[in-house]
Amino acid sequence: MLARLSSAEKSSASFEVFHAAQQIISCPYCLSVQIRIRTRLTCATAGVGMWGVSYRPITDFWFLTRCKYKGGVKRYGGYLGGFPERARRLIGCAINEPMLHLCGGLAKLYPYAGGFGPKDMTLDNDASVEPDFLRDAEDPLPNGTIVWGGILIDPPYTEEDAKKYPFSTYPNPNKLVVNSLDVLPVGRKVGIIHYVVPRCPKNAKFIACVGVACGFNNRIRAFSVFEKLP
Ligand SMILES: C[S@@+](CC[C@H](N)C(=O)[O-])C[C@H]1O[C@@H](n2cnc3c(N)ncnc32)[C@H](O)[C@@H]1O
Repeated sequence: MLARLSSAEKSSASFEVFHAAQQIISCPYCLSVQIRIRTRLTCATAGVGMWGVSYRPITDFWFLTRCKYKGGVKRYGGYLGGFPERARRLIGCAINEPMLHLCGGLAKLYPYAGGFGPKDMTLDNDASVEPDFLRDAEDPLPNGTIVWGGILIDPPYTEEDAKKYPFSTYPNPNKLVVNSLDVLPVGRKVGIIHYVVPRCPKNAKFIACVGVACGFNNRIRAFSVFEKLP
């Protein structure tokens, strides 16, 4: 953070840097131990106080299990076991609030508690998965009658991967995040699992980024979460 300041600012005696105590906390949902470090930088010259870099955006690493859906349904690209319930907690969408599963496919067959809520809905461009909204995820998203508590995006991760789905055109992850923010109330969050960490739009705050792995010898994914700002 100091590197961002001009040399005059750095040398100014009116700058105070506080390295607040490290805080050791236990994650309430996965019980992993996390260390949070807060650094406060106060700029008396400019008359402003800035809360500096905290550990927060990189929150965790999830080592999950393969997809297993209700009725033994085999689903290429289905949610990993343990993923949606953890994702939902970071998105901050309660289980009885409506969450949109964007590129949701067969998400409603997710079998474990806390993953797919009773008011959740799916959007997909493949009619065979019987989504609630049959449309392209790059088009404007459903808005109006339903007030989304959050949006979870699970698109194809590469152009190659997209060919595994009948109608996919590899949606741009940045566009999906922007589209989602367009229909979310201020303070609500969108999370996306992808090989790409999308850029944070101007009307959002980058809240979290989690590494997601499944077994050995597989590529790691990132789960990134953005909160809509006023
Ligand atoms: C990685 S899979 C996610 C599947 C979902 N998690 C599930 O459990 O079935 C990607 C999904 O995105 C859908 N998809 C691909 N391109 C899309 C697009 N442009 N618009 C909407 N859906 C799309 C595919 O049909 C597929 O269901």
